[in-house]
Parts: sequence; C-alpha cells; structure tokens
Amino acid sequence: MLFFKKKKTETYSFMDIGLTADVHSHILPGVDDGSQNVEESTAILTRLHECGVRKVIFTPHVSRSMFPNTAADLQARFDAFIPTLPEKLRKEMRFHLASEYMVDEFFATSDDRLCWPDGRHILIEMSYYERSREIRDEIFNLQMAGLLPVLAHPERYVFYQKAWDKKKGVAELQEFFDAGCKLQLNVMSLTGAYGEGSTAILRWLLDNDMYSFVGTDVHACRQINHFNGIQLTPAQMDKVRALARNNETLFG
Ligand SMILES: [Fe+2]
Repeated sequence: MLFFKKKKTETYSFMDIGLTADVHSHILPGVDDGSQNVEESTAILTRLHECGVRKVIFTPHVSRSMFPNTAADLQARFDAFIPTLPEKLRKEMRFHLASEYMVDEFFATSDDRLCWPDGRHILIEMSYYERSREIRDEIFNLQMAGLLPVLAHPERYVFYQKAWDKKKGVAELQEFFDAGCKLQLNVMSLTGAYGEGSTAILRWLLDNDMYSFVGTDVHACRQINHFNGIQLTPAQMDKVRALARNNETLFG
C-alpha cells in the first residue's frame, strides 16, 4: 500500500517573507477604519521600516456607503501627511497613494480611480459576508478600460469559504483567475487567524500559483506583532517570497 505523506508545515515570521514593498495598507490617518491619527500612522511606518519594508502603497477604503472618499480628498490628505513623517522614514521609504475600492452598485458610476504605482493595477474588494452582484461585470469593465483588477484577500470572503471544495477549490476564484483578474494574499491570513476555511483557500491558491501579490492590509500598529506564526510548507513559503518580489515590479 502506498502512503502519500502530507508535507509538514513550519513556522515562519513576518521577516522571513522578505517583504520590501507593501501593496495594501490602511495607514493614511483618519480616512477609513485604519489608522486614526498621525501618531499611529507614524508608528505603523516605523515598525514596517524595522521589518525591512521600504515602499508602501496606501490603499484607503473607498465605498459610497462606509467611506465615501474622493481621489482629490485622499490626495490632499496624503500630500499633507507625508511631510509630517520623521526625516529617516521620508529618506529611506517611498510612498504611493492608491485605494481599495468596494465593488458595489455605486462602483460603476465613478471614474475617480487611484491605482498602484504602475498606473494600471487597481485594488478591489467585496464585503466579507456578501458576494457583490456586480463583481463579474466590473472586473470585465475595468479590463475594458485598460486596467488590471486585483481582488484583495480572496481567502477572507466567508461565502468563498463556504463554497470551498476539496477537489475544485473555489470555482468563481478559478474563473476570475482564468479571466486575468489578479489575486492578492494578506499576510495575516498566513497565520491561520481567519480559520480553517481561509487557510484551505489560501493553500489551494498558493499551490496552484494563483496569487500575484502579497500585502499586509495593516490597519493598526499592534497588528504587526501578530504577523508572526506563519504556518506553511517550505515550498509554499518560497511562493510567498516570490509574491513579495513581484510586489517590487510595480515600482519600476
Ligand atoms: Fe484593506
């Protein structure tokens, strides 16, 4: 009888990823459910800098119902915030303003888009609990407009966790991937913090090379201490490191 040994997972720290460019963060103060003041934002960036991060994309939430931020307002706040940072951070880090757009019934009416630094990738999300009815159409519409949609943290959506199939994974995520929609992994998900369903999806996406990017999605400084305790096989960890290297390509 043949036995197929399950590959053993090991424990890794956040530093082991080698993340030098973060593509997803809620650091711009006072605009969403992330950092609420300049002190907290500075503390987050100081901690990320200590962990080796040198490039940070700010991706404040934009959604009509919860966070009705406009690109102009976010840009003004970003321009005011950066000069308040300690000189060391300003000298040794690069910052870029983008957004994380909620795909809902209002999404189509706005063309006010802040993209990642290559000018083409745009970060989108859904509610964790309710699949957006508009998601398929909007992925297509963004592509028709010449943009490259990136779905944030696919492993975190509860409706995908419920739809998880051991043999097939999640059919809709496979469909999005096949259609050219990119997928972005959250660091925190690697610790198992979001439960078995989330971990099953992320291992399936990693094993099948379906993620393109990895981000912290950091909302508060204390969260960074919980990024350690990553449970992956060495082969999966190598894939996460490759995602971190791919983040760098966005900055040219
Ligand atoms: Fe986020």
